[in-house]
Amino acid sequence: MTVTIRLKENGPLLVEGEYTLVDPNGNEIPQAKRALCRCGGSTTKPFCDGTHSKIGFQAATAAVASSDK
Ligand code: FES
Repeated sequence: MTVTIRLKENGPLLVEGEYTLVDPNGNEIPQAKRALCRCGGSTTKPFCDGTHSKIGFQAATAAVASSDK
């Protein structure tokens, strides 16, 4: 099964497909939402709560080339 993670412009990561989300202790986090915060401002991490809009989060719109070569 394929999982697609879609980067929303200046917003969260949208996960499409079945996946398991696990905390640092190995406990499974119920998938209440498909949108994962990438701005760091959410009060419901790891999920997006819309704070990115309020803080004016600006995300890179394209993948950054790796320096590991
Ligand atoms: S991306 Fe939406 S609150 Fe962080």
